[in-house]
Amino acid sequence: MKIQKKCVLPLDKRDLKVYICGALKNEIMKKKLVVLSGAGVSAESGISTFRDSDGLWENYDVMEVASIEGWYQNPELVIEFYNQRRTQLANVVPNEAHKIIAELENYYDVTVVTQNVDDLHERAGSTQIIHLHGELTKVCSDDRKKHVSDIGYSTFKFGDLAPDGHLLRPFIVWFGEDVPLINKAAEIVSQADIILIIGTSLNVYPAAGLLYSAKNDAQIYVIDPKEVQPIARRVVFIKEKATSGMKKLFRMIASKDFVIK
Ligand code: APR
Repeated sequence: MKIQKKCVLPLDKRDLKVYICGALKNEIMKKKLVVLSGAGVSAESGISTFRDSDGLWENYDVMEVASIEGWYQNPELVIEFYNQRRTQLANVVPNEAHKIIAELENYYDVTVVTQNVDDLHERAGSTQIIHLHGELTKVCSDDRKKHVSDIGYSTFKFGDLAPDGHLLRPFIVWFGEDVPLINKAAEIVSQADIILIIGTSLNVYPAAGLLYSAKNDAQIYVIDPKEVQPIARRVVFIKEKATSGMKKLFRMIASKDFVIK
C-alpha cells in the first residue's frame, strides 16, 4: 500500500515504526550521490598524488610517461612506469575514506566517478564506479584500445602482443587522448542530489568540468586539506584530509537525511 496522504494505518506501534522506517529508507535511497574523486583520496593509502610537493609529476616528466606522444617516443619507459605503479598497488590497501564512501551505498544511490586508475574504491566495496582515466590493472591493444584484459598486479614487457597482434599497452587515458566515459559521467552528475568532490585539484579537463553539469539544487561538498575552488557556486568546504573529512561529511549529510540514534 503506497502512502499517498496523511491517514490512519491499521498497524500496531512497532509495525508502524518498522513500516515507516522502511518506507522512509526506501524514499531516501532514491537520493543520488556522486563522488568525484582524485589522487588525494588514495594518498593516505600510500599512493602519491600528482601535483603535491612530493607528487609523481615532481619526479617524472608527465609528457614522457603519461601522454600519447610519450608512448610513441619511448614505450619501454611508459610500460616500466606503469609496471612500478601496478607493483606498488599490490602492496597498499583502501583507507577509511574509501570505506566510508562504500558504506554510503547503504543510504544513497552512490556512483563514484574517479580520475584514479587504482582499484582501491573497488576493494573498499564500492559497486558503481566510473574510471575516467583508465585502470592500472588492465591492458589493451595499441590499436584503438581494443581487447581490454585484466592482468591484476603483474607486469608486462615491451613487445608483448594483444590478441589482435598489436602491441600491448596500459589501459590508461593519457594526455592527448579522448576520455570515452566523460558523457556518461556528465549524465550521472546532472542527476545528482549530492556531489562530493574529494582529493582532486581539478586541474585536468574534461574531468574538472563535470561540475558544470550539476543541477542548481545539488548540494556540493569538497574535501581537501588545501584550498580548492571548484566552481562559482555555494559549496560546503571541509578542509581536511580524506579520512577525517569523510567522517565529518558522513555525520553532516546523515544528520540531514536520517534520525541518528
Ligand atoms: N586527503 C584529501 N586530499 C588530499 C590529500 C589527502 N590526504 N593529500 C592531498 N590531497 C589533495 C591535494 O591538496 C590536491 O588538491 O588531493 C589533490 C590531488 O591533486 P592532483 O595531484 O592534481 O591529482 P588529481 O586531481 O587526481 O589529478 C588529476 O591528473 O595527472 C593526471 O591523470 C592524472 O587523474 C590524474 C589527473
